[in-house]
Amino acid sequence: MVQFYVVAAEQDLPDGSQMHVDLNGTEMLLIHHQGEVFAVDYYCSHEKLGMEGGLVENFCLHCPHHSAGFDIRDGSVQSAPAWEDINTYLVKVEDGLISIQAPE
Ligand code: FES
Repeated sequence: MVQFYVVAAEQDLPDGSQMHVDLNGTEMLLIHHQGEVFAVDYYCSHEKLGMEGGLVENFCLHCPHHSAGFDIRDGSVQSAPAWEDINTYLVKVEDGLISIQAPE
């Protein structure tokens, strides 16, 4: 059975904002973008630096360090210098709470 863990209150993540989350040792970046909440790996696949604060445009997160781009819907690389995709995690928003599926 899929297990979700509450990680934040919806009101603490307004549209356009980001939040660092540590779920059982897996660090993730929560992103509220265009009315939806996404969860992706916190660290970039290029040089393993944190991506919090990176610009998000049209579902693409731009790493703040060397500008690699990742689609926040599926983690796929959109632009160099990264070449490996990042992980994404299932998100549920219910009763004002944001939950993420536990990584396996
Ligand atoms: S660390 Fe993200 S592009 Fe280099």
